[in-house]
Amino acid sequence: MRCRGGELSMDLMNKYPRLSDLKKPAAKRIPKFVYAYLDSGTGHDRAKDENRAFLDGVELTPQFMRGRVDPDLTTKLGPKTFKAPFGAAPIGLSSLIWPGAESIIGRAAKKYGFPYTLSTVAGESIEMVADSAGEMGWFQLYAPRDRDLMRDLLRRAKGCGYTTLVITADVPSPSRRERMRIAGAPLGSRGNSAFSPRVIWQSMLRPEWALRTLLNGGARFRNMEPYAKNDGTRGITKFIGDQLNGSLDWDYLAEIRASWDGEIYLKGVLHGQDAARAVGLGVNGIVVSNHGGRQLDAAPPPLAQLSAVRAAVGKDIPLIVDSGIMSGLDVVRVLAAGADFSMIGRGFMYAVAALGNKGGEHAATILLEEVRDVMAQLGLQTIDDVKRLSHS
Ligand SMILES: Cc1cc2nc3c(=O)[nH]c(=O)nc-3n(C[C@H](O)[C@H](O)[C@H](O)COP(=O)(O)O)c2cc1C
Repeated sequence: MRCRGGELSMDLMNKYPRLSDLKKPAAKRIPKFVYAYLDSGTGHDRAKDENRAFLDGVELTPQFMRGRVDPDLTTKLGPKTFKAPFGAAPIGLSSLIWPGAESIIGRAAKKYGFPYTLSTVAGESIEMVADSAGEMGWFQLYAPRDRDLMRDLLRRAKGCGYTTLVITADVPSPSRRERMRIAGAPLGSRGNSAFSPRVIWQSMLRPEWALRTLLNGGARFRNMEPYAKNDGTRGITKFIGDQLNGSLDWDYLAEIRASWDGEIYLKGVLHGQDAARAVGLGVNGIVVSNHGGRQLDAAPPPLAQLSAVRAAVGKDIPLIVDSGIMSGLDVVRVLAAGADFSMIGRGFMYAVAALGNKGGEHAATILLEEVRDVMAQLGLQTIDDVKRLSHS
């Protein structure tokens, strides 16, 4: 008997066995300015390239003669247990990259048991993703200047069952994103218009994306729309910029801590002093990240900062690493370097842009297979075995 589902996914795995294999098909399916938004770093992409170079430089020495190894990917992170040592990082405007991307990745997260982080400025709302990701949904907060708005977002997240908040620290102001400008991307008040002939022309060259995006209502910010007085994309973009840019400081972090009774991770920390101060204010864990190299082109790779951050916070505070991770091998690399967990941003989005509804599950399957394979090659049975490599 032919098993169609199995056959299809095997076809996909044979065609695109690595996340990196999905970059080209993604670029062919979405407009140039959208791909530039997804793929670019900032400046000359130095930080983005260094993230990769640093990961590529991490070698892992296998040990053999341990008999049959059957890796178990169960991962403890603080009080929670996941079925994988990775999660999906928050991506703003993800429904502009591919309509419905949030729920596509959210469903994969629920099915395979890893967290999906919904951005404050995603296309789909807290309520929509609660349905798709269920208990695997985390909420990322860009702290709004208006405290009532902040508290209302937290109220909605809590009411929908989210228990983990990721507060992003590393966007004190928008970065220049030169590759986006060159590709003609609309940058709100800072640049090209949303209806420039180039944007329209690039969109017409990707009819499936254009039709789906049109049916989805264009660039949506469903979490923030209820609070914006101004209608239209331009008005909402301005409102969001006014509310979210550069509002976070240490006092405000303490206020948010007092307003949220679940776990809090502070994301975008690279300096040990910042990490220690955050933990002192009651933050439960740190996401060591340089935002995928999208903010400061001279920022160090997070992995290069990991031991300094670890020394500052001690061994019991969960550390999540992201930026540059594009494979299960990279996931194992960061755990072996001393992280407790990892996050992947662009990798999931290349898959969804390339494969639509199948993208979330395909990306998850690749990562799970790769982590298992690398652990087997290293002769390691459990995630704790992988983490012990950092002590040896
Ligand atoms: C297109 C794009 C949009 C992003 N939007 C957000 C966001 O809304 N909030 C946030 O905290 N981080 C955001 N990030 C950063 C990611 O959460 C994550 O730190 C980064 O993508 C990790 O690097 P990687 O893409 O190499 O995996 C974004 C990244 C990309 C690529």
